Amino acid sequence: MNLNLNLKYKELADLLKETAPFKPDLSLILGSGLGNFTSSVKLFKTIFTSELPGYPPSTIIGHEGKIHFAEYEGKKLLLFQGRIHFYEGYPISACVLPAFLSHKLGCSKILITNAAGGINPNFHPGDLMLDISFNSFTIKKEISLLIGPMSEEGANNLRDFPSEAFNNIIRNAAHKEKIDLKEGVYWLSKGPSYETPAEIKMMGKFGGDAIGMSTVHEALFAAYCGLEVASISCITNYAAGISKSKLSHAEVTDTANIVKDKFERLVKRIISLV
Ligand code: HPA
Repeated sequence: MNLNLNLKYKELADLLKETAPFKPDLSLILGSGLGNFTSSVKLFKTIFTSELPGYPPSTIIGHEGKIHFAEYEGKKLLLFQGRIHFYEGYPISACVLPAFLSHKLGCSKILITNAAGGINPNFHPGDLMLDISFNSFTIKKEISLLIGPMSEEGANNLRDFPSEAFNNIIRNAAHKEKIDLKEGVYWLSKGPSYETPAEIKMMGKFGGDAIGMSTVHEALFAAYCGLEVASISCITNYAAGISKSKLSHAEVTDTANIVKDKFERLVKRIISLV
C-alpha cells in the first residue's frame, strides 16, 4: 500500500520490528487516565521513544513516550504510553506514527483511548464514551494529503470504520463489567487551547458529543492500513460553556485519575474478549 510517509518512519518501523519479542495482536494507545495501565500487565520489553531515531519527542506532562510489548490473558499487546499531538506542532505524518507502527508490526486491531470534554448535556465527568463516529474540520484534508490517491485496498478497509465487530466486543465488555458506557460522536479540535463556548455550541448543533485533540487521524489512518479500529473517550470535564466553571488542565487530569480504575477494568475485559 502506498503511504506518503517519511522514509525515516519506515526505517524506524523496521528497527522496531527487528527488536520486537513477538508479533502483537492488539495495539493500544493509552490516553490520559490510562497511563498506569502498564503496571498491571506483564511487560516483556519497554522502549523509550527517545531512544528511537527520528521518533518525535513528547512535550506533554503525563505523556511519557514509551512503547511496551506486553501480555494480558494470553493476548500479545503493543502499548503506546504517550502520543504525538497535532497541537505540539508536529505534522500529521508524525502524529499517526503509533498507528503506522501498529500496522507494520502486524497488529490486527487497535484500541485508541483519549480524554475528552463532554458536549452532550447528558454526559458527565467520569463517564466513558464509545466513539461511534468522528468529526473534524482539519484532519480529513491532512489525512488525504498523507495517503495520496485512495487505493482500492484502502477504500475497502475504510468501509468498516470504526469496526462494528470491535465496537460490539466493547459493548459486551462494558455490560459484563456493569459499566454504563455512553456512545457518541468524537469531534477533534486542533488545539492547543480549549474551545470557546461558541465553538462548542456549534459542534453540539452539528452532532458532536465529545471534544478532544487527538484520535481521529490515528483512527482513520489505522483503518486505512487495514486494522480493526475502536476508540473510547474518558469524559474528563464539561466542554467550554456546558457548565459555568472555567476549564483547566488540572480538572482533566484529576478526573482521569478518579476514573482510571473503571477505565482499566473495561480495557482489561475488552482484551480478554478480543
Ligand atoms: N477540549 C479539548 N480537548 C480536551 C478537553 C476539552 O474540553 N478535555 C480533554 N481534552
